[in-house]
Amino acid sequence: MQKSDSSSTQQGPFAGIDWFKLLFRIYFVLTRPLIEIVYGVRSNRIPLAECLLWGDAAGAMVFLHLDHLFFKKFGLQNWYPTKATSYYLYCGILMTSGFWFWGLFQTVLRNSLIKRLTEVFLEVGLKSPLGRLPAFIFDYPVDEFTRKMRLGRSCFSKIQFEKAKPALESSLQIYIDEMRENREHGSLDIIYSHSPMPSVTKIEDIHKIPSLSFVIGKTRAKQLTTTLQKVPHLMVAGQTGGGKSTFLRSLITTLYLNNPDFKFTLIDLKGGLEFQTFENLGRIKVIPSVKQAVSQLQHIETRLKERMDLLKANDCKDIDAFLAIPNEKRKDVAGVSAKTMNRLVLVIDEAAEMFLAGSHASANEIQSARRVLSQIARQGRSVGVHLIIATQRPDAKALDPQVKANLTGVICFQMLNDASSITVLGVGRATELPAIPGRAIWKSGSEMVEVQTPYLGTEEVDLLLEKYRKPPNSPEEE
Ligand SMILES: Nc1ncnc2c1ncn2[C@@H]1O[C@H](COP(=O)(O)OP(=O)(O)OP(=O)(O)O)[C@@H](O)[C@H]1O
Ligand SMILES: [Mg+2]
Repeated sequence: MQKSDSSSTQQGPFAGIDWFKLLFRIYFVLTRPLIEIVYGVRSNRIPLAECLLWGDAAGAMVFLHLDHLFFKKFGLQNWYPTKATSYYLYCGILMTSGFWFWGLFQTVLRNSLIKRLTEVFLEVGLKSPLGRLPAFIFDYPVDEFTRKMRLGRSCFSKIQFEKAKPALESSLQIYIDEMRENREHGSLDIIYSHSPMPSVTKIEDIHKIPSLSFVIGKTRAKQLTTTLQKVPHLMVAGQTGGGKSTFLRSLITTLYLNNPDFKFTLIDLKGGLEFQTFENLGRIKVIPSVKQAVSQLQHIETRLKERMDLLKANDCKDIDAFLAIPNEKRKDVAGVSAKTMNRLVLVIDEAAEMFLAGSHASANEIQSARRVLSQIARQGRSVGVHLIIATQRPDAKALDPQVKANLTGVICFQMLNDASSITVLGVGRATELPAIPGRAIWKSGSEMVEVQTPYLGTEEVDLLLEKYRKPPNSPEEE
């Protein structure tokens, strides 16, 4: 009875239309692109310039009445908005159409991803006996190459997802770096990319790296290098085993081999083992204890002052201007020779050791070491003294905020918690790194990119530096 009633009301042109479904579709078509636009703006991935340019072009078209031609060509003249409200609405939509197109495109991508995922889950057997599949929650770019997809786990464990990893990779044509479970949300994050990230990488042709430059690591696209001019001071942070000392080893070796005038002071507060390979080399001083480190820093403080006097006497604003003056034309100052002045690289492995309780120096000495570090961080760039600090603990106790603020380049290996990652990078990105030694985030200015830092073993370093080694017990250099 009821059935015949309903069929009698569904006659005419609208017969057979499922209104609920239609309204839902309209709602979806209108709101989904808007949500995508909001996400796009929040994650900074919407091409703002292009969208605005498109809007400008559309605005110009309306201004020149070219849109009338368009309506005419398709016989839609009667549809042209003539009332003020509809006309302004029309102009508004047209001028923001770049954003709408982008949002619509993202919606189409998202829908096709959900469709593909459903097929893949069925293919790899991620379907419960009740027919439930993992639910797609979101998928967005973490940086230029890496994306994060969040799935509702449904009734599946992380182990089941891990078993399906190779199948997921080949079906979706992606490279999965890591799967991470969020117990409290019942979800699983998949960090992936469309291009492979190497898990071990070497420096390409170390002798050909230009002076002042060093390799940060390999991104998914290329070998990333920077220079001490762009990044005068550097922080290397990360939990134990991440690859801090290995990174320092490759950086020191590169700078040493390609800058024959540089001097190095390496403070190794982890028992003197990390920098053992740099002992007995001309131009390198290895300091293995807190006590010696403190007195070495005081010594550098004096050198800093001498360097500033030299720059002043030679009328130079910084070390680059000073080094551009031919050696014979440089002026000396009271007992300090201008001939030998060049850049000095000060590297500290595990800076926290120097400042935390239990170190073998008095409170006064530690205080003065803190002061000198802060001075180097502030003034070092112009006088050519570069500070490279590695630490497991980037907090204020281990590293003065003022020093940290001047360490403009940051290489951050995996961190245990968001708080540490935020302290170093300003975001929790380092906790999302896969647990692969050497995998890190490089941050300099607004640039933040995932890299695989180069691996250079101690044996390789020994071979590379063999010809520079001094005979044991030769006199210490200044
Ligand atoms: N870039 C890399 N590529 C491949 N393996 C690496 C890389 N960096 C480090 N490793 C591996 O990880 C191990 C630990 O690295 P490393 O000693 O540099 O860590 P760390 O961060 O200095 O740790 P800690 O804080 O305990 O001193 C190395 O012995 C090496 O085997
Ligand atoms: Mg180390």
